[in-house]
Amino acid sequence: MKNIMRLLIVTLVGFLFFSCAKKQSTQISSPNGNIVLNTFTNKEGEPGYKIVFDNKTVIDSSFLGYVLNDRLDLSRNLQVDSISTTTFNETWERPWGESRTVDNYYNQLTLSLSTKTDPVLTFKIVFRVFDDGIGFRYEIPEQQGIDSIFINNEKTQFHLTDDLTAWWIPGDWESYEHLWTKSRLSEIDAGARRNHPNLSCTLIPDSLAVNTPLTMEGDGYYLSIHEASLVDYAGMTLHVDKGSHTLTSSLVPWPDGVKVKTKSPMKSPWRTIQIVKEPGELITSNLIVNLNEPSKIENTGWIKPSKYMGIWWEMHIGKSSWAPTWNNPGATTENAKKYIDFASKHHIDGLLVEGWNTGWENWLDTATQIFDFVTPYPYFNIDEVLRYGKSKGVNLIGHHETSGDVATYDRLMDSAYQYYEDKGVKYVKSGYVGRITPHQYHHSQWMVNHYQRAVTKAAEHHIMLDVHEPIKATGLRRTWPNLLSREGLRGQEFNAWSETNPPSHTATIPFTRMLGGPVDFTPGIFNIKFNEFKKDKQVNTTLAKQLALYVVIYSPVQMAADLPEHYEKHLDAFKFIEDVPVNWERTKVLNAAIGEYVTIARQERGTDNWFIGSITNEEQREFDLLLDFLQEGNYKAVIYKDGPDAHWDKNPVSYTIDSLTVTNEDILHLKLAPGGGVAVALFQK
Ligand code: NOJ
Ligand code: CA
Repeated sequence: MKNIMRLLIVTLVGFLFFSCAKKQSTQISSPNGNIVLNTFTNKEGEPGYKIVFDNKTVIDSSFLGYVLNDRLDLSRNLQVDSISTTTFNETWERPWGESRTVDNYYNQLTLSLSTKTDPVLTFKIVFRVFDDGIGFRYEIPEQQGIDSIFINNEKTQFHLTDDLTAWWIPGDWESYEHLWTKSRLSEIDAGARRNHPNLSCTLIPDSLAVNTPLTMEGDGYYLSIHEASLVDYAGMTLHVDKGSHTLTSSLVPWPDGVKVKTKSPMKSPWRTIQIVKEPGELITSNLIVNLNEPSKIENTGWIKPSKYMGIWWEMHIGKSSWAPTWNNPGATTENAKKYIDFASKHHIDGLLVEGWNTGWENWLDTATQIFDFVTPYPYFNIDEVLRYGKSKGVNLIGHHETSGDVATYDRLMDSAYQYYEDKGVKYVKSGYVGRITPHQYHHSQWMVNHYQRAVTKAAEHHIMLDVHEPIKATGLRRTWPNLLSREGLRGQEFNAWSETNPPSHTATIPFTRMLGGPVDFTPGIFNIKFNEFKKDKQVNTTLAKQLALYVVIYSPVQMAADLPEHYEKHLDAFKFIEDVPVNWERTKVLNAAIGEYVTIARQERGTDNWFIGSITNEEQREFDLLLDFLQEGNYKAVIYKDGPDAHWDKNPVSYTIDSLTVTNEDILHLKLAPGGGVAVALFQK
């Protein structure tokens, strides 16, 4: 990856303060001046900050700090020893993503603090102010008197100025697979989702805590609070104080209650606040990925985005199963060849096979060591499937379902990756369904470290990962570009066996979960009602909306999730899935309202072709899209749209496909059915 440093100015303000109880404050702005950050310490020596955006206070006085090792209070009785500021401006290039280049331009302010009472300890709070938000982190340098650090409490506050509207999921310590609720902060009740029957593992200890990204709407602005570079630290939930509209960080603990066990020197993840005027700017913001280290993988030539099919949805809808003892197993050599034939004919590069390795009959038991990750069932001849796939240009995508038995996975991980590497398998989907063994919460520091070990180990074996039941996405794809995608939300699969996802769900994802990074949502279900398998379940979108999701929900690995025989009935519509890229030159959000609708245009990496995805919730809509982002010249537009009578429930498979010639002076008129969408492919002529 190429880093182009354009400018680096370091200004050491470096003034010493009197240690008397005097209010100490300082100010720094974003490069364009729209965001102003004030930091201060009050009479009690509590450090804090305040943010003004567009002349409006968006975060009122909020306090910061830590309680460590039971007795060390790094949140009060502090003094500011020095303040330094820097400006940083670079443009870096990424091997894959929503755009080729990323601008990383911010002003930084570092507060160096120390305790006024013994033992004297120093620490820093570093703020970076971008044009689209702020990130800050804590740093505890190496020093006498502090070696091992147990964080009992991180006291980061976000004091909102009003009872904002928020799109939230519960602060579950085990799962992010919840539906979003839109409500005022004062109406948050995460306990209402407790004991959800279809979550394999869930723990919501605090009815007033939510997970991040937490996106909110204020008066003329939008905010989203999340974290960046979550490494060797616990995942953060936010506890809501309804009276004061204050959110406070609440970290997912170890089983003994300690939040983070570490050593000095330590750096916390960045706490991030994206602040924008229009909701679409949240989607194009690069703040989170910018607050991660550059790639640790020097040669990224082996890392490639891809589309894939899977022996997968057929298990979820009950046509076949993972285990030979349940009903007919899906992962047979013959079935794999059938998928490979279809994928090869329609330019899909990969085939995921779940249930090929022994152990599935004990899946979800509390038994440990049920998978060894390398022994195929007798009906799956892996070498034959690999040979056949290779002859047809289709890669096998490996699968590591750990069933939460991380102790065993940690022990076998190296040999499990080696097995795939030896066979030429380059992509692995992993999964962590169920309770973790040894007892730990999915979003705890212990698991954050496990997920990181898996990414690092996979990189050693030149393996790209797609993690299900992951830790939240915090931009680590910059540092580890082999970490292609992850689930970490309520995906398509819930439509097959749970309370199904309402039409507004996919119109919420781009403004919430997707702000963290790529989403393996698994779009592309064409047999919307699948009544022949399950009468009481369905996908709550039109078929055209399933196509639009390939552009709207970004992932460098996109699944064509349905069965070949279902696609055979709509090969004209499948052509869009064949054509749509998974790597982009640039991205533009053409219109957006959180949970209601969004239209995104993306230019294919390396060509002048553009693709548009437009989706709506239950409401039908009409949009006029200016095509002024196209390059000069004629484009062939292929428009996959809802039929005139289409409706997500009453008539979801009604669609029409139009072809016409357009230029960048044209306006495209789109009509979206209730729960519908439109997908457009624009090929430069
Ligand atoms: C959960 C994953 O999200 C799903 O995609 C997978 O099929 C099952 N685990 C089985 O591994
Ligand atoms: Ca899942």
